[in-house]
Amino acid sequence: MSESRAGRTAVVLGGTQGLGKEIVKTLAAKGTTVYLSGRTHESADAAAKEIGQGTIGLALDLSMPETIAESLSSVPSVDDLIIAAIERDANTLANYDVAAAIRLVTLKLVGYTEAVHALRSRLTPQASIVLFGGLALLRAYPGSTTVSTVNGGIVGIVNSLATELAPIRVNAIHPGIIGDSPFWEGKDNSPVINRTPLGRLVTMAEIVDSVEFLLNNTGINGVNLAVDGGWLLK
Ligand SMILES: NC(=O)c1ccc[n+]([C@@H]2O[C@H](COP(=O)([O-])OP(=O)(O)OC[C@H]3O[C@@H](n4cnc5c(N)ncnc54)[C@H](OP(=O)(O)O)[C@@H]3O)[C@@H](O)[C@H]2O)c1
Repeated sequence: MSESRAGRTAVVLGGTQGLGKEIVKTLAAKGTTVYLSGRTHESADAAAKEIGQGTIGLALDLSMPETIAESLSSVPSVDDLIIAAIERDANTLANYDVAAAIRLVTLKLVGYTEAVHALRSRLTPQASIVLFGGLALLRAYPGSTTVSTVNGGIVGIVNSLATELAPIRVNAIHPGIIGDSPFWEGKDNSPVINRTPLGRLVTMAEIVDSVEFLLNNTGINGVNLAVDGGWLLK
């Protein structure tokens, strides 16, 4: 899509790298003023400087929910809110790390919700929200208990917030394995590719396009969209 988004304001939490950063780049290139966050001023400011186009960096830690409102206090209003942040937790039952599990559960379930809560009075009447889950929700693997659980929780958050914030729209993207994302690039992803009817992994550009679809299409609400090249079919 090449439509102008001049005059809009977006907030992308987890926008310093990976999928969030690609979303920031695309929205900023179309004229949106974008606030992006990382955990530190250093990472957020570096990404904002690299992307340019008026992008503003914020330091925000979603695993410390009591601090989120203050971290977002400089944001004036929000048309597009995208929350993509993650700290991965490979946590097997055999070596269960309670602190790591609590951190990710807090980040995704309480942190995502608190960010929406903190910004709710600044959401414009036509605002929409896109949250990130992931298909570990359905394709579990040893060590995925926390990740699978929080991604399942995103479904509940979407349903609840779309009801509570109505008519503001709330949707989620649940990616499969995104082959050119920093976390997966260079790994042996052949077992997933072999199980994907597309015969390849979905790309970051395709995720960005899906986010734009959810932001722009005013009929889409309460949807948990799997973007996986058909991986769930096999
Ligand atoms: N990549 C995939 O294939 C894939 C697959 C399924 C689901 N997903 C989901 O898609 C989303 C984006 O994934 P990604 O791979 O693009 O992520 P990523 O490259 O690992 O980037 C993570 C982002 O989250 C930020 N972050 C980390 N800890 C944070 C915290 N405690 N509070 C606030 N921000 C924090 C990071 O900022 P700093 O490091 O600068 O602090 C960074 O901007 C995630 O929700 C992930 O679960 C991705």
